[in-house]
Amino acid sequence: MTGTGDGVAWITGASSGIGRALALRLARDGRTVAASARSAGALSALAAEAGAEAEAEGRIVPFPLDVTDAGAVAAAADVIERRLGPVGLAVLNAGTHTPMGLDDFSAATARALMEVNYFGVVHALDALLPRLAARGGGRVAVVASVAGYRGLPTAAAYGPTKAALINLCEALKPECDRAGIRLHLINPGFVDTPLTARNPFPMPDIIPAAAAADRIADGLAGDRFEIAFPPRFARTLKLARCLPYRAYFALVRRVTGT
Ligand SMILES: NC(=O)c1ccc[n+]([C@@H]2O[C@H](COP(=O)([O-])OP(=O)(O)OC[C@H]3O[C@@H](n4cnc5c(N)ncnc54)[C@H](OP(=O)(O)O)[C@@H]3O)[C@@H](O)[C@H]2O)c1
Repeated sequence: MTGTGDGVAWITGASSGIGRALALRLARDGRTVAASARSAGALSALAAEAGAEAEAEGRIVPFPLDVTDAGAVAAAADVIERRLGPVGLAVLNAGTHTPMGLDDFSAATARALMEVNYFGVVHALDALLPRLAARGGGRVAVVASVAGYRGLPTAAAYGPTKAALINLCEALKPECDRAGIRLHLINPGFVDTPLTARNPFPMPDIIPAAAAADRIADGLAGDRFEIAFPPRFARTLKLARCLPYRAYFALVRRVTGT
């Protein structure tokens, strides 16, 4: 068992990529994991994989849902707690990416990404925060992205969803502290998953999903608000946040050719 606390770990976006790797890592650590995403078949396969792993002392139980459906998310929180026990850790990781810039600018794309990436998290927080506050404890981790630090080419739809999550977590953190809820903001750089397979450009410092899961699990055993990785890439983008616009756009032009 890691130091990520007691209780059930609920992971959204667990059918693939980072969420899947994290579910397996937490099960290996002895945790009971409630795994959510839309693809019920992929979640069942994940549960079977954890069950077949000799070193997995925990287990993974599928709870399929669409995070854009607030009612389904609230109902899942109820069912998970009734079937498995109180949620002690929630990793709100479900998300998607559609590249968008000037040529393919679309309100429909921007809205669709906001519905999944931002409101998907808000729906889970709405279901969970009152429960955790009433119990006076628990951890919640929101998966945003270093792409939320500043605007980046082709991320005109994706970036704002992640910037919104960062701001949301910053806004909630002091009150969560007072309520005994440990809130973490997870900002990954490039991770090799089906989501980044859509990127047509070379991705600096890209890491495997299992390495990202290890970074997250290790971070969740500690007290730091932000878990950002890989460290060098995350530090560079964080520094870029402090640049004045003229220098920032010159840097973006040089690095991306945009
Ligand atoms: N990969 C990266 O480089 C990177 C970098 C920074 C941040 N992130 C963030 O990390 C998170 C995981 O991304 P990933 O790279 O692991 O991508 P991924 O492999 O595409 O996984 C995305 C997960 O989200 C789930 N999901 C998508 N829409 C959903 C919906 N409406 N309701 C419920 N689940 C939904 C997907 O499952 P279903 O399709 O089965 O629903 C899948 O399990 C995302 O929030 C992403 O923005 C990724």
